[in-house]
Amino acid sequence: LSPKPLAGKRVVVTAGPTFEALDPIRGITNHSSGKMGFAIARAAREAGAQVTLVAGPVHLPTPRGVDRVDVKSARQMLDATLAAVPRADVFVATAAVADWRPANEAGQKIKKDGSGQAPTLSFVENPDILLTVAQTERAKKRELFCVGFAAESHDLLAHAQAKRVRKGIPLLAGNIGPLTFGQDDNQLLLVDEQGAHELPRAPKLQLARTLVVEIARRMSGLPGT
Ligand code: C5P
Repeated sequence: LSPKPLAGKRVVVTAGPTFEALDPIRGITNHSSGKMGFAIARAAREAGAQVTLVAGPVHLPTPRGVDRVDVKSARQMLDATLAAVPRADVFVATAAVADWRPANEAGQKIKKDGSGQAPTLSFVENPDILLTVAQTERAKKRELFCVGFAAESHDLLAHAQAKRVRKGIPLLAGNIGPLTFGQDDNQLLLVDEQGAHELPRAPKLQLARTLVVEIARRMSGLPGT
């Protein structure tokens, strides 16, 4: 592989959490600092790719040379991603997308009515961005190398393997527990068709660089390391 293994390629990365509004003041979200996704965007750029980073609400600087689109909700993230992927060669979904959103977003702040009764919230399922993208591009018979992430509290290997197959993607990276949000390092379990391979605990940028090489190898028909 060349020192710039993604030269000439376009990469789209989702990162961070999504925020699903309940009213103008409140909402639900997931824990996610966005650090892993931002590190992958940076590593892909360093590897020569043109990178679009679709970011949920996070407090992180944009990596140099990366195009950033800021979004809040899962639906906005889906729209921004679908706008970017038709020109892309690689899609890496690191975002911690909220699985559900409030069924109704109140136009005004929901007020206590003095009765002591708490409101009952109902939710609807959000779109699965990775699944939608993988299916859409497969239907178009386009070559888009999709990578997913998985954060699990237990049975990581089994869940990661099942998730990779369910989403129909070649590569999935599982966060090896315990779940440590906002940390600068991480430990990953890479799962592909051949099996599973552990990347030992390291700074997220180093893991991101390794992951980029693993993606580039597979795209050029080489086996994973
Ligand atoms: O299904 P689960 O949420 O565990 O899968 C995690 C993977 O799917 C991650 O790559 C995440 O970014 C992606 N995902 C997504 N849209 C969702 C839920 C998950 O893109 N609504």
